[in-house]
Amino acid sequence: MAAIPALPRKYHAASIWLLYVAGLAPAAYGFWLGATGRLPGNPVKEFEHLLGLWALRFLVVTLAITPLRDLVGLNWIRYRRALGLLAFWYVLMHFLTYMVLDQYLNFSAVLADIAKRPFITIGMAGFVMLIPLALTSNTWSIRRLGPRWTKLHRLVYVIAAAGALHFAMSVKVVGLEPWTYIVLMVLLVSWRLVRTPFNRWKRGSGGGAQFNRA
Ligand code: HEM
Repeated sequence: MAAIPALPRKYHAASIWLLYVAGLAPAAYGFWLGATGRLPGNPVKEFEHLLGLWALRFLVVTLAITPLRDLVGLNWIRYRRALGLLAFWYVLMHFLTYMVLDQYLNFSAVLADIAKRPFITIGMAGFVMLIPLALTSNTWSIRRLGPRWTKLHRLVYVIAAAGALHFAMSVKVVGLEPWTYIVLMVLLVSWRLVRTPFNRWKRGSGGGAQFNRA
C-alpha cells in the first residue's frame, strides 16, 4: 500500500488549531441561521438537532482514529484530543440549548424529563460520562493518572453507544441515519476487541512497518 504523506511537524500545532476552528464552524453557522430566522420549522429544535448530530459525528471520528492507523497506517493520533473535545463542546451546547432555549431553565421540567424519558436519561448519562474525559484531556492529567487515564478514557465507547442509542430512541421511526450511527458504533467498538490479535498478526506477517504504537 502506498504510504500516506505525513504533514511536516512544523504544521502540526497550526493544523490542530485549524481543526478546532473548522470543527466549531457548524455550530456558529447554525446559530447565525437561527438568529437571522433562516432555520426551517422550529429553529430551537433544528439547532438542538444540529448540535446533537455534530456531537455524534465527532464521537465517531474520534473513535475511528485508532482503526484508521491500524488498518491503513494513517496516523492522526495528534488530532484525537481535539476531536474528542469538539464532541464534548457539541454535547455541552446541545444540552445548554435544551436547558435554556427549549426548557427556559425550568429545572423541575428538566429533572422530570431526565427521570421519565428514557432517551433523555441515556443522553444525560452520556453527557455526565463525557465530563471527566474532557477534564482529563490534557498532558498533565495523562502524566498524573498514568495507566488509570487509559482505563478512564475507555468510557468513550460507552458514551458513543449511549449517544447512538439516544439518537435512535429520540426519533419516531428509526431510519437510515440513526441506523448508520448504530452500525458505525458497533463496528468501532468491535474493532477494540479484535485490534490486539490483528496487530499481532500484522507484525507477524511483515505488515507492521508502518505500525507505531501511540
Ligand atoms: C453523548 C451525549 C449526546 C449525544 C451524542 C446526543 C445526540 C443527539 C442526537 C444525534 C439527536 C437527534 C438529532 C436529530 O433528530 O436530528 C438528539 C436529540 C435530542 N437530544 Fe441529545 N445527545 C446527547 C445528550 C443529550 C442530553 C444530555 C440531553 C438533555 C438532557 C439531550 C436532549 C436531546 C433532545 C431533547 C433531543 C431532541 C428530541 C426531539 O426531537 O424532540 N441530549 N441528541
